[in-house]
Amino acid sequence: MAKKKETVGEILFTEDQIRRRAKELGAQISKDYEGEELIAICTLRGSVVWFADLIKNIDLDMSIDFVSASSYGSAQTSSGFVKITLDTEANLYNKSVLIIEDIVDTGTTLQYLIEKFKERGPKSIKVCTMLDKPSRRTNGMVADYIGFTVDDIFIVGYGLDYDQRYRNLPYVSYLTGAPD
Ligand code: IMP
Ligand code: MG
Repeated sequence: MAKKKETVGEILFTEDQIRRRAKELGAQISKDYEGEELIAICTLRGSVVWFADLIKNIDLDMSIDFVSASSYGSAQTSSGFVKITLDTEANLYNKSVLIIEDIVDTGTTLQYLIEKFKERGPKSIKVCTMLDKPSRRTNGMVADYIGFTVDDIFIVGYGLDYDQRYRNLPYVSYLTGAPD
């Protein structure tokens, strides 16, 4: 029998909806961080699309940086093992750090990143995520800014991948029929 191939489901959030949400959260962040030395850190690769939308809506004298942490192989479930594969360049000491995430799932990656960044003496660390999947959380992680909440389904699009594919979809959708 031929191997069943995954298919993309319905659109959950359109580009328009996401951009509107980025505008709202960007305005909120601009207010909350007024007068602070903000550095927004994009978690590669999933967050790039959301990150680009969001920072355009932050009206502050700020800087950006990138980090890549992996806890997933090609499978849909977290291995629970996190490592930083690309670290930030900026000095985080005394900075107001805002981690920009694509999705908070089990919360493992975020917990690890926050612990690592804390060691560098930032003034504060907060998190802005495009998507939150609270039903999957295995720790107490709660993002400070949340774009949308999703059910326990496997999301793709707008930066999020399955086996490195689907990141380019200009909307958030989900996969059906994919192997675990
Ligand atoms: P966590 O450590 O389980 O919270 O999730 C780590 C990372 O796994 C996220 O930042 C995403 O890059 C990826 N991930 C989690 N859930 C999904 C999903 O539904 N679709 C695609 N990637 C996901
Ligand atoms: Mg991610």
